[in-house]
Amino acid sequence: MNLEEKIRNVQDFPKEGIGFKDITTLICDGEGFKLAVDRMADYLREKRVDLIVGPEARGFIFGTPVAYALGVGFVPIRKPGKLPSEVETIEYDLEYGTDILEIHRDAIKPGQRVAIVDDLLATGGTTAAAVKLIEKLGGQVVCLEFLIELTFLNGRDKLDGYDVQTLVQYDSE
Ligand code: PRP
Ligand code: MG
Repeated sequence: MNLEEKIRNVQDFPKEGIGFKDITTLICDGEGFKLAVDRMADYLREKRVDLIVGPEARGFIFGTPVAYALGVGFVPIRKPGKLPSEVETIEYDLEYGTDILEIHRDAIKPGQRVAIVDDLLATGGTTAAAVKLIEKLGGQVVCLEFLIELTFLNGRDKLDGYDVQTLVQYDSE
């Protein structure tokens, strides 16, 4: 099965000229969703991870089943004001303006081996911020794994030195 065939391209969303990679068509296909999660989990199996971290919201869709498949815990990174206990916060740049992400301070213990799982690597901004949060807590980021990579946005440049793994690559909109 070809995972790329299950991902829908929606032209001109959210604005003209953008070809949005819609994962809802993949995840509502039982076989496709299972294959994507299995492949992500298989790659991480040899990395001996203690925890999966997933950024809200689409990182939850892939991160939680991958954690379940590996039998390890899942830690959410959330948009501001959602986590109830003490948080570590990071502000990072977007194309226009800034955004904020948060993680529970006690969610990761120093030295734990952590993989970040998300649906998409675009500019790398979200992941670079997530890496900083994990490292602030003393976690060791051992892999960054994505279903989709938009290679023309050069997200890997922001993630230099980390093990970046992607299943489906697009080299243009
Ligand atoms: C999307 C996607 C990734 C991020 C990738 O999330 O799910 O998390 O953008 O872009 P980047 O590499 O340029 O940071 P988005 O913030 O749109 O929100 P969502 O997951 O809540 O839909
Ligand atoms: Mg996201």
